[in-house]
Amino acid sequence: MTNNMFFIANWKMFGDFKSVNSVKKVIKLSKIKKYKKAQIIYCPPFTLIDRFLNLVKNSKITVGAQNCHYSEKPGPFTGSINSDLIKSSGAKYVIIGHSENRVTGDTNQIINLKIKSALKKKLKVIYCIGETLNEKKKNKTNLILRSQIIHGLKNIKKNNSIIFAYEPVWSIGTGIIPKINNLEKQIYDIKNMIFKFWKLKNPKIIYGGSVNSKNISELNKISSINGFLVGGASQNSKNFIDIIKKTIN
Ligand code: PGA
Repeated sequence: MTNNMFFIANWKMFGDFKSVNSVKKVIKLSKIKKYKKAQIIYCPPFTLIDRFLNLVKNSKITVGAQNCHYSEKPGPFTGSINSDLIKSSGAKYVIIGHSENRVTGDTNQIINLKIKSALKKKLKVIYCIGETLNEKKKNKTNLILRSQIIHGLKNIKKNNSIIFAYEPVWSIGTGIIPKINNLEKQIYDIKNMIFKFWKLKNPKIIYGGSVNSKNISELNKISSINGFLVGGASQNSKNFIDIIKKTIN
């Protein structure tokens, strides 16, 4: 286990005002000395960001958004939120490039604009990359990941604050995780790609895709992983706490 592990809760389009209260248990855990090195970041739906900020204000837990619009400037984009609005909400992070947004139209080029606008607003970026099942079957995983890195980060200077979330699409929400040896090799390959692209030696790389309290001990054997992006299991505080406890033991 590396120091300062990230535990990023991606609530997706789930959660209501009531469910936010259960997060108090996670806040309590975050104040125990042993777990202080856990960097817990909640990414709730936009509508809950303010409530989350209020709840976590006396703790080390931070809050992020799940996506942003590509336009840096305000504009006639009904229903959209850009980095500027996220920044002014008080959130510190933003997830960009999630496969659930790639399927609805986020290309690497759009993602590139989103990342640039987020960095300009001094938001920290959680950049999701990952191959689909079809791409994996065709042995195209590294080709896809390299292209997501090169095009998603085009004309962006080396930046150690970006967290790379490797999320194989076939693992998200399916209960299936990669074989540990394969995942370890994949993280190694991604680190090499980032090194070639940015000459950055120790990028932060987290894993996401069906992380739960049952498979976490297995996943945690990979010492090169800097943390986890947790979807479904993060919406239940008990499960999320179990994941943190089993990682930092
Ligand atoms: P999951 O989602 O943990 O529910 O598979 C992860 C993600 O989509 O970030």
